[in-house]
Amino acid sequence: MNLAPQTPPHPSGDKRFKLLDVAIKRHQFRQDALIEILHTAQELFGYLDSDVLIYVGRAVRAPLSRVYGVATFYNFFSMKPPGEHTCVVCMGTACYVKGAGQILQALEQKHGIKAGETTEDGKVSLVTARCGMGTFCSSQTSRATS
Ligand code: FES
Repeated sequence: MNLAPQTPPHPSGDKRFKLLDVAIKRHQFRQDALIEILHTAQELFGYLDSDVLIYVGRAVRAPLSRVYGVATFYNFFSMKPPGEHTCVVCMGTACYVKGAGQILQALEQKHGIKAGETTEDGKVSLVTARCGMGTFCSSQTSRATS
């Protein structure tokens, strides 16, 4: 007996929703897999608009407030379409010490946006990141100092 919720197909006929259905099914319609499902949705659509959040919420039988809460809690998720070009400035310690803050400030002034925003013409998105555990910068540093 199949106990999976029956989700009607998305009325747009957009094939990406079928791929999203596959991901939701793979996670057995579990609410505790919302992060993974939203991750797939963002890969498919480029960002998470309200239509996608509503669709996911219905599929996993979670209130929209919960889906929205997850989507807005994690910096990884974007609720707006990305710009044509994405400019990433590493704000990790090593880069910050070498002037990443000034570079970010210059880019913000040049494009008239703050980090996390996209220009009005949709050409440039400006985001910050950290390199993680120094995998890139530590190799650069060791090369530079040896
Ligand atoms: S701190 Fe920026 S690449 Fe490592």
